[in-house]
Amino acid sequence: MYRNHTCGEIRIENIGQEVLLAGWVQRVRNLGGMTFIDLRDRYGLTQLVVDDHSSEEIKNMAGTLGREFVVQARGTVRERSSKNPKMATGDVELQITGLSVLNSAATPPFTIQDDTDGGDELRMKYRYLDLRRETVRKNLELRAKMAHVVRNYLDAEHFIETETPVLIKSTPEGARDFVVPSRMNPNQFYALPQSPQLFKQLLMVAGFDRYYQIVKCFRDEDLRADRQPEFTQIDCEMSYVHQEDVLNMFEGLTKYIFKEMKGLDIVDFPRMTFAEAFEKYGNDKPDLRFGMVIQELTDLVKGNEFKLFDDAAFIGGICAPGCGEYTRKQLDALTEFIKKPQIGGTVLIYAKVNSDGTIKSSVDKYYTAEDLQNWAERLEAKPGDLLLITCGSKEKTLPVLSSLRLEMGRQCGLMDKENFKPLWVVDFPLLEWNEETQRFFAMHHPFTSPKPEDIALLETDPGKVRANAYDLVINGVEIGGGSVRIFDSALQAKMFKILGFTKEAAEDQFGFLMNAFKFGAPPHAGIAFGFDRLVSMFAGLDSIRDVIAFPKNNSGRDVMNDSPSPIAQAQLDELYLQLVKTE
Ligand code: AMO
Repeated sequence: MYRNHTCGEIRIENIGQEVLLAGWVQRVRNLGGMTFIDLRDRYGLTQLVVDDHSSEEIKNMAGTLGREFVVQARGTVRERSSKNPKMATGDVELQITGLSVLNSAATPPFTIQDDTDGGDELRMKYRYLDLRRETVRKNLELRAKMAHVVRNYLDAEHFIETETPVLIKSTPEGARDFVVPSRMNPNQFYALPQSPQLFKQLLMVAGFDRYYQIVKCFRDEDLRADRQPEFTQIDCEMSYVHQEDVLNMFEGLTKYIFKEMKGLDIVDFPRMTFAEAFEKYGNDKPDLRFGMVIQELTDLVKGNEFKLFDDAAFIGGICAPGCGEYTRKQLDALTEFIKKPQIGGTVLIYAKVNSDGTIKSSVDKYYTAEDLQNWAERLEAKPGDLLLITCGSKEKTLPVLSSLRLEMGRQCGLMDKENFKPLWVVDFPLLEWNEETQRFFAMHHPFTSPKPEDIALLETDPGKVRANAYDLVINGVEIGGGSVRIFDSALQAKMFKILGFTKEAAEDQFGFLMNAFKFGAPPHAGIAFGFDRLVSMFAGLDSIRDVIAFPKNNSGRDVMNDSPSPIAQAQLDELYLQLVKTE
């Protein structure tokens, strides 16, 4: 037996007992004739003591221990003379009667403790050491617990957990595929799934009725804090359901997760159309932890000889509560903020509501006090508030106001990470026009059903067609997305045509699905949650990397095993691949 207790469980009740522990040496302190060793495992830390009563052999061995040595210690539990209330085991210590070194360890490149001295790159290179740190491991424990909670709910709702293939056929929609050459089929490639979309629809044709899978997906796209090239979805599909049934089922799952993981009762679960989200929040994933809703001011501000506004198609603003005292410097910084290329704003006009209700603006010479009062009224401003206004085309200005709103939310401390505000965004446009390629793309994916009442528009004004598609948004993060699927071959063929597929291309890419639909496809719909995003939100983290055991860096590299990496010529030959020179 290596151990009969863990390093985290010994308490005052165990005093006098002989116990056997195994773990890593966190630190060794020599104080006069005594040596204290902190022994660590996944469960905690226990202090071991070597003193006058210990044998010479143990004393000598204790002197050889270094950080992260793997040791086994036998000893008697005794009360500590100076207790440590910060440690769960801080009332007791182990007086060692036996000590053996199970393995020595090289000096780790950073300290294995919460406030480590290791930088990001170094910690990723030695991720297995990083994972020894309690803060990091706790995130992975949370992830495991959440997967368990999700399975409990979906199993109870009779979803069948089914694995789908990882080597699949490449499909040219959505992000880029990662591809895998086939040795047995020269010059042919599999793709790694961007999601199990087609397979889960086939499982509905197969009569599974309710499917789920906690599944790895792969997308070759630009990476950000909330995007990894391989990530995990809670992927689900249901038969004989309408959109409402899916929303209710997964609202239920979301509430269950909050209850089980955080003891929270989520009461409000609003629904908002895409159009409303865009008008009021400037994007399709509104953060409802705070108001600061965007208001259009076009009708109020035009016609006062202020050229900038007179020339603009759209003028809109927000009211930042309590920011009326912002200095010139702070206001200039906000102008700089909206002018960042990724935000794309051009100008920021402000108006401060003074404590006596009077208003001072940066465009006072064009507007009367009454004009400014009207702005303040529209934006529901109170004394002490700051109005921030910008203009341009509507499509470009609303997203600028969205970024500004989020920045002001941050500056005003309105984005409490423990305040959770979920909602459904519904009625997304079915199609998105791409200027570059001059064609429509499916906003969700090509199997998404148009809203029945909009089907006629497919012929006349496809850009106006709304989809039976929905996103689950929590605190401004897109956590999940799904749709009601097309299950009628004729409508699906029409969709492929609108998306610019020739009959042959549609047949080549999706023929197997279309074929399957001939054999009695039930009405079906589904959704996928981004599991990493959900876990990182519950852990209060900003990046999904922190909830993935072995994540990739922002260039898509695994710095621990240094991949991707070249392969041997023989392997290339076998796969009929040739390398080309790059810059
Ligand atoms: P979608 O593409 O919206 O839908 O993806 C579903 C959810 O997966 C998460 N997600 C990601 N998480 C981390 N890194 C990424 N690169 C990444 N990309 C997406 C998001 C997103 O909401 N098959 C459809 C679902 C369906 O229609 O049922 C799909 O994949 O949280």
